[in-house]
Amino acid sequence: MARILIAYSTVDGQTLKICERIRSSLEREGHAVELADLGKGRNVDAAPYEKLVVGASIRYGRHRAHVYEFVERHRRALEEKPSAFFSVSVVARKPGKDTPEGNPYMTQFRRKARWTPGVQGVFAGRIDYRLYGPVDRLVIRFIMLLTRGPTDPRASVEFTDWPAVDAFARRVSAM
Ligand SMILES: Cc1cc2nc3c(=O)[nH]c(=O)nc-3n(C[C@H](O)[C@H](O)[C@H](O)COP(=O)(O)O)c2cc1C
Repeated sequence: MARILIAYSTVDGQTLKICERIRSSLEREGHAVELADLGKGRNVDAAPYEKLVVGASIRYGRHRAHVYEFVERHRRALEEKPSAFFSVSVVARKPGKDTPEGNPYMTQFRRKARWTPGVQGVFAGRIDYRLYGPVDRLVIRFIMLLTRGPTDPRASVEFTDWPAVDAFARRVSAM
């Protein structure tokens, strides 16, 4: 049994939903899990935890700055303790881009963060046009048109592969 921190970065809540699924899985294995929203700006203390997990979504090609700030601030703990990272994007719905090796945002993350976590995951997120402002809706519809995704402005489509999330949670439990 370990005390595990899951620090996450989300805009529309899909990364949080994935974190909650990982938490349920880990709790079933007997672990004590706490979630921390990096967007809330409070300084998270990594010291009380035996394992660390970071999860972050992509917006316009990037993980948000507070994700890199968290890695920088906790670099030592992340390198010394068993740690994991997962990235959430829509590109990850595509075969070949659904692995830590093939996903361009994971490659970008490892390079920019100068951190190669022991366990890495890549999950497809959700497109929900009802949540977006007019500019984001237009841009995402255009990208979906180019990449053969949903373009109906009322569409809400979840691409997340939940068994893959469960498999990631099992790797976190075992790390
Ligand atoms: C404004 C906007 C920009 C996005 N940009 C990208 C992108 O550049 N690449 C990508 O693969 N997915 C992109 N996405 C898809 C998100 O990563 C996906 O919706 C994810 O589920 C969001 O997770 P969150 O709800 O935790 O923020 C974008 C979504 C929105 C709304």
